[in-house]
Amino acid sequence: MKKLQVAVFISGRGSNLESLIQSSFKKQSLVEVQLVISNNSKAKGLVIAKKNKIPAIHFISRKNFETKVSQYLQNIDIICLAGFMQVLGTKFVRNWRLRLINVHPSYLPAFKGLNAQDQAIKAKASYSGCSVHYVTSKIDSGQIILQKKVKILKKDNTESLSKKILIEEHKIYPRALQMVAKRLIVKKK
Ligand code: GAR
Repeated sequence: MKKLQVAVFISGRGSNLESLIQSSFKKQSLVEVQLVISNNSKAKGLVIAKKNKIPAIHFISRKNFETKVSQYLQNIDIICLAGFMQVLGTKFVRNWRLRLINVHPSYLPAFKGLNAQDQAIKAKASYSGCSVHYVTSKIDSGQIILQKKVKILKKDNTESLSKKILIEEHKIYPRALQMVAKRLIVKKK
């Protein structure tokens, strides 16, 4: 069976990109990372793409981003946002309904938006976590695919919490992607 083709959108470090790529190499994987798109020419994730011989494109301007990017997505089945810090237009999001997913560093619906780990520390929450969800036009509000809680200890700060959450992101994001791929395959049949 032909694997589903995935594009990963990034803006920075790319550690989730790396975990998605590594898990896609597993024999039983239903997906293949075919393309990396960045809105930042200096994103470290671009180096990860290159190292893994995955074509990568970066767009400097936000103007018409969705239109420009769409021409590269003709053969793509699923888009994964992995630390992609740009809100996508409503039309684009609608076109990719149930095929566009995101990882967010909180146990949604808590702590939506920017600096989620810092929000959790400042709120003195006893736990936070990470969530993989479908993207809708409402930020960090689409249907949850997988989530994992992470305890916040008294000694935790934003940095230590971010590290603990990231370890879990790297586990749930590849699993959630397989789940989405499976759902699409079943739907196609
Ligand atoms: C991750 O923690 C991801 O959850 C977060 O950015 C980081 C990207 O790290 N995303 C968001 O906050 C989106 N709202 P990475 O570039 O190493 O994958």
